[in-house]
Amino acid sequence: MSLNSNWTVEQRYRRIEDISQESIDAMVELRKQDSGYPSYHVAPKFGLLNDPNGLCFFNGEHHLFYQWTPVGPVHGMKYWYHLSTKDFVHFQDHGIGLHPDQDYDSHGVYSGGALVEKDHVLLFFTGNKRDEHWLRIPTQCLAKMSGDGKIEKHGVVIENEHYTEHFRDPKVWKQGDDYLMVVGAQTPQEIGSMVLYSSRDLINWQHKGPIQTRYNKLGYMWECPDFFEIDNQSVMLFSPQGVSSKNSYDFKNIYSVAYIIGERLNLDSVELENHQDIAQPDYGFDFYAPQTYLDDTGRRIMIAWVGLPDINTPSNKNQWEGMLSLPRELHIQGGYLVQSVLPEVKALQGEAFAVESELELDTTSFMVQLETEIDDFELTLSNAAGDNIVFRATEKEFILDRSKMSQLYAKKFGTMRKVPRLSTKQTIEVYVDRSVIEIFINGGKHTMTSRFFIDNLNVLSITGGVKTVYHTMCPIQGVND
Ligand code: FRU
Repeated sequence: MSLNSNWTVEQRYRRIEDISQESIDAMVELRKQDSGYPSYHVAPKFGLLNDPNGLCFFNGEHHLFYQWTPVGPVHGMKYWYHLSTKDFVHFQDHGIGLHPDQDYDSHGVYSGGALVEKDHVLLFFTGNKRDEHWLRIPTQCLAKMSGDGKIEKHGVVIENEHYTEHFRDPKVWKQGDDYLMVVGAQTPQEIGSMVLYSSRDLINWQHKGPIQTRYNKLGYMWECPDFFEIDNQSVMLFSPQGVSSKNSYDFKNIYSVAYIIGERLNLDSVELENHQDIAQPDYGFDFYAPQTYLDDTGRRIMIAWVGLPDINTPSNKNQWEGMLSLPRELHIQGGYLVQSVLPEVKALQGEAFAVESELELDTTSFMVQLETEIDDFELTLSNAAGDNIVFRATEKEFILDRSKMSQLYAKKFGTMRKVPRLSTKQTIEVYVDRSVIEIFINGGKHTMTSRFFIDNLNVLSITGGVKTVYHTMCPIQGVND
């Protein structure tokens, strides 16, 4: 039985002021004892992390916020937690950025995005309020972060007039003289959509309606929408719920992440013109709610939550849940959104050495690069008892097999994930950090991002004579100490 199911609503919705220092210390102590707690991924000191929020580059730094439930490893009262970094190695911990302290966000400061203006950042978020009958009243709200890092709320900018209670996660950008916003919404017909609003002054927003594509009936809710232009194309990125497929690859997780690349968003017809088929960036077990932003050098960077709603991982025994993915730069190549780890992260790499077929691990934070020119091979991470996670390749596909982990979870959604292999010869990057693995395959056209739980993990082995180069990875500083 998972810890989470024992929590009452009252317990989940406690605020940070209601948690005693003693119980915080106890949570931190348990988290510190966890050999699965990552060293070069951002994770909460205690409690639950979910979506990345308000990602932006401002004042010479990348600012990252994330959804945080301090009360424990459960979804409950949500805050925005704030970090910043110049280099993805040294981080500054700013603590809580947004508290649920207003009537309109009395039940949580939900997800949203940032818009960088000249000397300040506008943070758009969803105010989550529940009334006395526990009915949800969502609104889109605004806060402002000034140059000195102070954050002030400016209230509600959009009320919910067109959608069910599922209306959240605003993301704003500027196009010419217009400000545009997408919001994740469920239509009255209970269909998931990405709805568009436009504004001239950031306060008054005009409802334009759901963005039209060939996927107007896909799932019952789209969370965390993002819309951006890159390499002369327009991309809709979102986290749909209620989508599945009959093939053995697509939409296998409880909830998914998808993107649609098109030529341009027609603001009159609210249509994504000349778009391609829907695609998925990630084929692992734990990847959700990605958000993107532009940095000062024009890179489009994506960060996701390594986790999924409604799934508890074994980390909750140690009073924490969830982490952020590594930052990934995006491009479009051959009709795919291609992802590569930001070069800044390479500064964490130790010296390179070649692995023959087996390596006794003295750390579980490392990365390996594989040069593959053959069809069949296997990379296995295991312990002395033979518990393992296997990344397997055939001529046609890549498979991530979690069926023999020491601690299995979410079994009802299957223990294997598969993705088509696009070429025999390719360079694959595998980042491992204690209980998370991020695999970049098919030249970054796909990734497989997953948590894994192997007690006393100590061996990496590789078959098939694949040229394998190993680097240890140093911890990031300022977050997880
Ligand atoms: C996605 C999500 C968002 C919501 C937030 C609440 O994981 O459900 O739609 O704003 O999490 O934490």
